[in-house]
Amino acid sequence: MKAIDIRNKYLNFFERHGHKIIPSAPLIPENDPSVLFTTAGMQPLVPYLLGEKHPEGTRLTDYQKCLRTNDIEEVGDNRHLTYFEMLGNWSLGDYFKKESIQMSFEFLTKELEIPVEKLSVTCFAGNEEAPKDEEAAKYWKEAGIPEERIYFLKDNWWIAGEEGPCGPDTEIFYDTGKEPCSKNCNPDCDCGKYVEIWNNVFMQYFKHKDGTLTKLKQHNVDTGLGLERMTMLLQGKKTPYETELFAPMMEHLEKLAKVDDIHSRRIVAEHLRASMMIIADGGRPSNIDRGYILRRLIRRMIRHLRKLEINLEETKDLIYLNIEILKEMYPYLEENKQTITQVIIEEKDKFVATLSHGEREFEKAVAKAEQEGKKSIDGKTVFRLYDTFGFPPEITEELAKEQGFKINMQEFEELFKMHQEKSRLGSEQKFKGGLAEQNEITTAYHTATHLLHEALREVLGEHVKQNGSNITSERLRFDFTHPQKMTKEEIQKVEDLVNEQIQKDLAVTCEEMSYEDAKKSGAIGLFTDKYGDKVKVYAIGDFSKEICGGPHVSHTGELGKFKIKKEESSSSGVRRIKAILIQE
Ligand code: SER
Repeated sequence: MKAIDIRNKYLNFFERHGHKIIPSAPLIPENDPSVLFTTAGMQPLVPYLLGEKHPEGTRLTDYQKCLRTNDIEEVGDNRHLTYFEMLGNWSLGDYFKKESIQMSFEFLTKELEIPVEKLSVTCFAGNEEAPKDEEAAKYWKEAGIPEERIYFLKDNWWIAGEEGPCGPDTEIFYDTGKEPCSKNCNPDCDCGKYVEIWNNVFMQYFKHKDGTLTKLKQHNVDTGLGLERMTMLLQGKKTPYETELFAPMMEHLEKLAKVDDIHSRRIVAEHLRASMMIIADGGRPSNIDRGYILRRLIRRMIRHLRKLEINLEETKDLIYLNIEILKEMYPYLEENKQTITQVIIEEKDKFVATLSHGEREFEKAVAKAEQEGKKSIDGKTVFRLYDTFGFPPEITEELAKEQGFKINMQEFEELFKMHQEKSRLGSEQKFKGGLAEQNEITTAYHTATHLLHEALREVLGEHVKQNGSNITSERLRFDFTHPQKMTKEEIQKVEDLVNEQIQKDLAVTCEEMSYEDAKKSGAIGLFTDKYGDKVKVYAIGDFSKEICGGPHVSHTGELGKFKIKKEESSSSGVRRIKAILIQE
């Protein structure tokens, strides 16, 4: 069965079971600056999992384009992909464990005709926060999975990131038929006998930043089935590269390559596909965030084309071939052919220029080392080549080897880590508070957010903690922990308190100190685990003190009049305020 047939069978099956088919959200999330790419089918559905009404109802199904970059370095082995498609079905406060398990079982055994003997499942073993999921196990048994193939694991809990809707999950495994690696071989083991094919999450809870769990308003089901993996298993293949999604590209690369390296061929095929999907959804290469991931994918692909000794002039034909391979699944790639080609070719040309520039700099470094009678190049030079000229350290290493030079990779790694830490902190500060754009207005809203935070603590109590913040040029949005709806009087008090501080025209000052000192000084701190050693503390007169990356206005008088427009529930135990500043 081809991938597209599995996808269609899936959507049709769930449609027959009362689900509405919804379109895949773009790979680049809309209105969500906190993540770079869509990494799971549930991600675009978070508001609905938290209780907002979905216009299509309470049973949904889709295929979702996903990109996960945490395993980028693993790509090239026989299983990791950055881009993949996730098939999913959701219950938004509709069915729960029983029907979810029944439907999954029926789909696998009847629609895909997988013999029951091939299936094993795992359920949540329980911990101090939530009980063992005996219920899920019972439904599996009723469906036809024998007890000895139902395992209980502590890890069967799913959450995207550190905060959000979550719950116990039950995972379905496919037995590849490999010999067991030991007497205790089971789905938890990594030997490759059992491959996870489907994850059904029973979302009952919300995990807050401070680690506490609260019950969600409704019981949801969120499931995810990796299409490439399922295709590979049903076709009896060992890697996704042997399926129709990659095989024609792999064969073509093998023909073109002068060097036989399957690892490099896979990297080229995988990164080309991922890059094309990102570009088709509007991504462009740059030096930050999403653009940087795309740049890395394209450059890594080019590097491996070079390694395979494939002429880079072939790049265009590789793109065209990939459109042929993928257009049945993603017809819009054809419409975007010109843009995709242009973006990739431009990036390739830039990279080639970088490489020749870097090679010249490398030669200079070699000449200098030779003058000094050294046969090695220090890590600082490798880092400078990388940082200033974008010259990949692997290439420096390659060239050095060719010329009989050693390079100090360890020193490079240390410098690289320091650099990464710096840019990590930088981008966190950017994302913190959803400050996607920074201008005078958003800066004013940022300061107003600090005033609001402190005013809420004074009026409602110190249990108030920031749970999320998002700022646009039109308004601020602030989520905070508080168990009940605010009364009209409380809202008025908070608003008045903020306006009083604005009228006082308090000075906003900033001091850098260690995280410990900041805590001692009484500054409110969030995201504790993400802070570096040194933090900035912004004080607004004597009224508020908060750890924050800024920027802020210099005096509160610049803010205008503060008005709360809305106070509503965000999720259980979390309230949301929307407020505006009016310039008078
Ligand atoms: N959200 C779960 C996962 O990504 C199920 O869809 O595995």
